[in-house]
Amino acid sequence: MDVRKDVSPHGQWSSRWIYFLAATGSAVGLGNIWKFPYITGVYGGGAFVIVYLGCILLIGLPLLIAEAAIGRRARHSPAASLMTIARAEGRRYPRAWGAVGWLAALAGFLILSFYTVIAGWVVYYTLAALEGAFTQRSAVEITALFESHVARPWVVLAYSTGFLVATMVCVGLGVRRGLEASLRFSMPVLILLLVVLVIYATIEGDFAAGLQFLFRPDFSALTWPVVLVAMGHAFFSLGLGAGTMIIYGAYLPGTSSLPRTALEISLADTAVAMLAGLALFPIVFAHGLEPGVGPQLVFVTVPIAFGQMPGGVLIGTAFFLMLALAAFTSAISTIEPLMTTVVERFGCSRRQAACWLGAAVWLVSLGTVGSFSWWSEPLLFNRTAFELIDFLASNLMLPAGGLLVALFVGWLTVGDGWRGALLERSELSFRAWYWVLRYITPLGIAAVLIAALTGRT
Ligand code: TRP
Repeated sequence: MDVRKDVSPHGQWSSRWIYFLAATGSAVGLGNIWKFPYITGVYGGGAFVIVYLGCILLIGLPLLIAEAAIGRRARHSPAASLMTIARAEGRRYPRAWGAVGWLAALAGFLILSFYTVIAGWVVYYTLAALEGAFTQRSAVEITALFESHVARPWVVLAYSTGFLVATMVCVGLGVRRGLEASLRFSMPVLILLLVVLVIYATIEGDFAAGLQFLFRPDFSALTWPVVLVAMGHAFFSLGLGAGTMIIYGAYLPGTSSLPRTALEISLADTAVAMLAGLALFPIVFAHGLEPGVGPQLVFVTVPIAFGQMPGGVLIGTAFFLMLALAAFTSAISTIEPLMTTVVERFGCSRRQAACWLGAAVWLVSLGTVGSFSWWSEPLLFNRTAFELIDFLASNLMLPAGGLLVALFVGWLTVGDGWRGALLERSELSFRAWYWVLRYITPLGIAAVLIAALTGRT
C-alpha cells in the first residue's frame, strides 16, 4: 500500500494546507470559543491550562495522528478503513471493527443534532447584534432575551433548520466543491475577526484582569476531577473518537509527515481557544461581569458587555458571526464520517445521503429544541433530551471510540505497518508516538470513561 499514490473514492484535499484548514476548522468550534475560556476560569486558570496542554499532548495528539493514519492508510470511511486494515493485518473479526467505525460515525451524527440548535442560537444572536438589540440593555433584560429566545421552539427550529440545511448542502456537494470552498472563505475570516477582537479587548477591556484570570496558575485548585475535565475537553475540542480525523486523513495527499501536521493542528486549536479567552475576559472584567456563569456565558454575558461599549454593534456582530463560522466548519466535520459510511454501504450519491441524513439529524434535533421549551422537564436519569444526547455522544461514545482506536493501532496491528502512513522521517518521533499511544493514551481515556460512568466528572 503506497499512501503517496492512493486517492480516496470520496475525494481528496487539493493540498496539505487545505487539509490543515479543514482539520483546524473541525477542531475549532463552539467548544473552543465558548467552553474553553469558561472552564479554564472555573477550574483554576493557569493550572488548568497546563493540564489541558498535557492532555492535548499525551492523549489528543497521539490519537489525532492514529486516526489520520488509519484514514490515509485505507482511504475509506471510518467503518471500511478499520475493517480493511483489520483484514489486512489478519485480525479475526474485521466486521466488528467495521461496527466500531459505524458507532464512531454515529457519535458525530448525535453531536450534530444538538450542535445545529446551539449554532442556530448563534445565528439568531448575530442578527440580533446587528440590529442593535443589546445596545444599552441591562443585565436583567439581556438574560430575559436569552430565556425568551430559547423558549420559542418555532423560532429556534427555524434557525437551526437553516443552519442544518446549509451544512448538509455543503457536505452534499463533496470535498472539493463543498468543504474546500467554504473553508477557504471562513477560516481566514474567523482568524481575522478573532485577532480584531483581541486587539479591541486590549484597548477597551481590562486586559490585565483577563490575563490573570486565564494564566495565573493556582495549583491548589487542581484536583482529579479537574484533571478529568481538562482531558475530556481535549477530546471534544480536537473532535476525536468520531471518525472525523479518519475521514479527513483519507483525503490527505500522501506527501506530508502526519505527526508534524497533527502538531500544527493541535497548536492552532489551542491557540484559537487562548485567543478567544483573551478576547472575551478583558471585556467581561471591564464591565464587572461574572465569568463563570456556564452555558449562558456567550449568550448573556457577552451581549451585556457589547451592549455597553462604544462600537458594540459592530464588534458584537463580528463576534457572533465568527462563532457561527466556527460552528459551521465543525458541523461539517461531525457528519462527514457517517456521510461516507452511508454512501459506501448503500451505494447512493452524496446528494441522496445528504438528504436522508439531514432529515434524520433534523428529527433528532427536535429533542434538543424541545429540551429548552416543550419538554424542559427531565426525561430520564434527571436529564433533558439534550443532556442525554450530549452525555451519550460526548461522554460515552467519543472516549469509547478513542480508546478502541488507540488499542487497534497500538496493540492489534503491527507497529511497523504505520510507518508508511505516517511518513515520519525521524525514528525518534515515530517511536515516541507509538509508545505514548500504546500506554499513556488508553490509560488516560479509560480514566475519563470510568470517571464518567461513576459520575465523578
Ligand atoms: N471540536 C469541535 C468544537 O470544539 C466540535 C467537533 C467537531 C467535534 N467535530 C467533532 C466533536 C467530532 C466531536 C467529534 O466545538
